[in-house]
Amino acid sequence: MNDLNLAIVSAGKHRLDAFGRILASTNRRLQVTAIECAPQRLGAITTQLSADILIVDCQDNDEAALSAALLALEQIGMQHPGMAIVLLHHGQSPDFLIRAMRAGVREVLAPDADIAALDAAIGRIAAKAGKTGTQNGNSGKVLAFASCKGGSGATFLAANLGYALAAQGNARVALFDLNLQFGDAALYLSDDKPAATIADVVQNISRLDEAFLKANMMQARPGFDILAAPADPAFGLEIKPEHVDALITLASRHYDYVILDTGRNLDALTIRALDHADTIFAVMQASLPFVRGAKRMLGIFGSLEYPAQKIELVVNRFQKDGALGIKDLEAACKTAIRRTVAHHAEAAEAAANQGIAVMKLAGGSPIARSLEAWAADLLGKAPAEETSWFNRILKRA
Ligand SMILES: Nc1ncnc2c1ncn2[C@@H]1O[C@H](COP(=O)(O)OP(=O)(O)O)[C@@H](O)[C@H]1O
Ligand SMILES: [Mg+2]
Repeated sequence: MNDLNLAIVSAGKHRLDAFGRILASTNRRLQVTAIECAPQRLGAITTQLSADILIVDCQDNDEAALSAALLALEQIGMQHPGMAIVLLHHGQSPDFLIRAMRAGVREVLAPDADIAALDAAIGRIAAKAGKTGTQNGNSGKVLAFASCKGGSGATFLAANLGYALAAQGNARVALFDLNLQFGDAALYLSDDKPAATIADVVQNISRLDEAFLKANMMQARPGFDILAAPADPAFGLEIKPEHVDALITLASRHYDYVILDTGRNLDALTIRALDHADTIFAVMQASLPFVRGAKRMLGIFGSLEYPAQKIELVVNRFQKDGALGIKDLEAACKTAIRRTVAHHAEAAEAAANQGIAVMKLAGGSPIARSLEAWAADLLGKAPAEETSWFNRILKRA
């Protein structure tokens, strides 16, 4: 195994020396670089940093200094996605841990962490990097599904697209049901009652790590895990935007796709979730009530200053001979529409009633084909046979 590159940052020279001695006493093969710098000034040197693990000694109690340090760490995390950040700080409250995690910190240890604690943290990070076979932290794509009007099919599409991504691309997919009052995403993929929900995770948020998250999710198929909405709407009230941050940040490190079903709600919590999305699929249908809903929703996304390319309108239950065509919908919504999903009541109802993915129950149905093409686009693959390179060559011959 290669040596681990470790950089340690502290404002105090004597502390750097002490850490150097501690780390020299481990049995690990470490290349240690000591950097004398106050954590809140790290922003100035982020590009020069290079390490597998960055340990930041932050003794500051002062809120301004702490905020500056966390901001710098967030930038470092974005610039060096493969770098695991360990923060040494006395703050251990769940709120502080969530805040640190949001900034991309992997572990928070007490400032007087001894060799055993440091070595254990290094071991966990090395093991995780080895287990996933990648050091590319934060790489999962976050896809949110918003419903322009109730019943447009956002939840159905979120659940079934997740299934298609996992089935077609061997992608690791997480679906978070963020309809905290009456979430029903899990029901589209299973008729079992979920053993745990997002409420169980949030009640124990200080234990949040990959294993704990997974333990509270329901597996819909290999590679596809669902975090269900609370069974009792009252539990939904305990879930705060900070929790959503921590969950999405963690999941995007361990899954290729994190799908969020935010439904129709646009409250502080769902907006926080939408902030994280790489793409928001706003689901509508081809009729006036949905057009009104879509316009309202696009207006709100505009006032949230989301860039236009972040939003994709999806026309579900689309029929070519319907009263409103794509051109009409584009003119009404002043937005290009690139994706439609075919209307097929029989397949959709059977799948929804039985809690079975539509690709599994009605493979080859128009909906299944729409979903397969959608997943193929996201995976960057050629979709069905006709466009595979092999068939193109055959056609040319
Ligand atoms: N492409 C489709 N063709 C026919 N029926 C559909 C299609 N997509 C969804 N449905 C039906 O619409 C119903 C409502 O969808 P749902 O996802 O719960 O809506 P939303 O989450 O937007 O409120 C589902 O039970 C499903 O049977
Ligand atoms: Mg829904």
